[in-house]
Amino acid sequence: MEANKTNTQPENTKFTSIMQKEIFEEPGVVKNLLERYTTPDDKITLELPEKIDNIVIVASGSSYNCAAIAAPLFIEYANLPCEYEYSSEFVLQKKHFVTPHSLYIFVSQSGETSDTLRALKMIKDEGVKTMCITNAENSTMWNLCDYKILSDAGEEKSIASTKALTAQILCSILILLKINYKQGVDISGYLNTMRRVPAYLERINLNLDKINTVAQEISKYSNISILGNKNYYPVAKEGALKIKETCYLNVMAYPFGEFMHGHVAILNQKSVIIAIIDEENSEFAVRNLQKIRQDYNPKIICITSVQDVKAGDLNIYIKTKRKLKAIFGALLTLQLIACKLASILKRNPDRPKGLKKVVKD
Ligand code: AGP
Repeated sequence: MEANKTNTQPENTKFTSIMQKEIFEEPGVVKNLLERYTTPDDKITLELPEKIDNIVIVASGSSYNCAAIAAPLFIEYANLPCEYEYSSEFVLQKKHFVTPHSLYIFVSQSGETSDTLRALKMIKDEGVKTMCITNAENSTMWNLCDYKILSDAGEEKSIASTKALTAQILCSILILLKINYKQGVDISGYLNTMRRVPAYLERINLNLDKINTVAQEISKYSNISILGNKNYYPVAKEGALKIKETCYLNVMAYPFGEFMHGHVAILNQKSVIIAIIDEENSEFAVRNLQKIRQDYNPKIICITSVQDVKAGDLNIYIKTKRKLKAIFGALLTLQLIACKLASILKRNPDRPKGLKKVVKD
């Protein structure tokens, strides 16, 4: 399939793991999905309920991080109330928010995760409209949901999810843009931004040497904190999850501002901070990083979409002014860092100990 044809790996270099190969497939996955679900005259072909007045997204693990990235976008771009919950927590709630036009979206790479399946069955019993975003056509979730979106990332073999998550996020953005379109918004500009994502990700993939240098630096530390604001906080959480799964390190993610409320005390000269900086938070982030440097002097690495930010000891530039692009760029960068860090630490990222691809009872 198209996704497997794209390979921005520098020539003569072999992939070091399945995980790395799947990360390098992401530009192709995005291109393929845009071709599948959009038309040249800027229509989106996904099927949605006629009326939606609120959305709840339920998922686990990386798919939950997709929910947490997407939900604020639904509020910001479509002015639509949107909540999200871990599947395992959702099933413990006695009452769920439902209106006649609620849409419950279940995100799952496998379509078979027990916690998410249980949540889906629970809400179906209340007669609510359900949708799944899944990479597995004909999975149990696919067959149970009223509306189905195939994330079409190609088979994901690596236990650490990478390309499937990127595909889920793009599908969420396409749902959002379709709602926008129905609201009378001209979505051509947004779709053009999305069409530039594959080339943008390919450029980041070519930055592998810098990313490897950063991973080498991070490998000297065992106390890792990843900071990001708003949509980038779940991006930071996803980066932490990737490093945990592949390197068995205890990595924490925090929103920048909240980090200063006590959590900061964990820092010392043996700590490393990975800070995600974008147009919206750059001043605030740089100010906090200066204070952190003064008080604790940790190593600071910045992944920044703003070109002139030099707040880190090492800075990885993923330059763009568009948030909808930068989210993908920051994610891909963190995935590559996790993958390289695992090989530096002599872990096999494709065989994380004790983990399975699908978490079932
Ligand atoms: C992601 O890297 C993990 N392997 C894990 O958190 C996974 O995302 C989670 O178990 C959910 O799986 P699903 O998307 O297949 O439902």
